[in-house]
Amino acid sequence: MANATPTRRRFLQAAGLAGIAGWAGLRSGGRARAAGDQPARRRQKIILDVDTGTDDAVALMFGALHPDLELVGATTVKGNVGIEFTTENTLRVFDHIGVNIPVYRGMASPIVRSDFPTPQSGGSAFHGQYLDLPPSRSQVRDTDAVDFLIQTYSREAGREIILVPVGPLSNVAMALKRAPKIVDNIPEIVLMGGAHDMGNVTASAEFNIWADPEAARVVFRSGVAKLTLVTLDATHKAQVSLEDAAKLRALGTPAGAAAATFVERRVKGYMEYDHQARPAAPVHDALAVASIVNPAVITTVPAFVDVETEGALTVGRTVVDRRGRMTAPPNARVALGADEPLFVRMLLETLGRTAPAA
Ligand code: BDR
Ligand code: CA
Repeated sequence: MANATPTRRRFLQAAGLAGIAGWAGLRSGGRARAAGDQPARRRQKIILDVDTGTDDAVALMFGALHPDLELVGATTVKGNVGIEFTTENTLRVFDHIGVNIPVYRGMASPIVRSDFPTPQSGGSAFHGQYLDLPPSRSQVRDTDAVDFLIQTYSREAGREIILVPVGPLSNVAMALKRAPKIVDNIPEIVLMGGAHDMGNVTASAEFNIWADPEAARVVFRSGVAKLTLVTLDATHKAQVSLEDAAKLRALGTPAGAAAATFVERRVKGYMEYDHQARPAAPVHDALAVASIVNPAVITTVPAFVDVETEGALTVGRTVVDRRGRMTAPPNARVALGADEPLFVRMLLETLGRTAPAA
């Protein structure tokens, strides 16, 4: 499948079969590797920058287990919960599914604002504080997350690694501020964040951007070669239901069981706090990772995007210039739609896998 012709690829994507059939929709920079007598397979390298969190956890498992991805590391940031929790939670996820992927602890606060956002005691209804998994056995690396990003993208080899931030953009922005030249070696940033229609933490703003708006501005204005925003508009169109959670549990894998627990928690949270009628919830961060494997799972528009950093009512709002009012060329692809059945199929397919024995 890796050698599918462009026509065949388009067909598979249109049919929503690409990820399921094993074609990765690979961007430039993947490399061939052979495993035993398996046919050579190109795996797209990614780094996940996370504030783990229930949906980050599903994204991490998807990134670690999808056969067309190579998750080279996870960097943690303050967001859903404090840095000590996001780091421990990330280690717990990897230990639970039995993968040895390096975890780097990152920024404990935004790049400009001090102690913002204020942590909720006990964590939120959607995430809690510690994930519902056994305490970690593995150790966080000694290298700081920002240093890891700078080291990785100071090398030519960084050009093979898509950066996937799914939390506040503090680590990424700090790396870009300290070493601006690394932007030339970042081939693409696919982030979960922003909202064109309605926010979730305020009426205007989505959480990841609101939690460190100055960092988001650094990233949006960085001039990175490719930037994709997987916004709330898209993630709310690809929800995972309680029925899907039952199917995830029935897979009988560690990843399926954990994802089912997290989805159930999220559905409860959305029904209580968002007054959502349907027993389903977005799993935001996992959609961003799935879109790397199969771009057909989201629909995007090109647009110039910036972020409000001062408005009393609108701080953290992503301003998406769909009508060319800001006289700036598009700097991003903004995902506004998503294919829910395809996303759910991709989750079931990927989380039904187990890590190869070490
Ligand atoms: C984003 O905010 C966090 O709560 C989630 O993990 C996701 O990354 C959604 O707004
Ligand atoms: Ca997140």
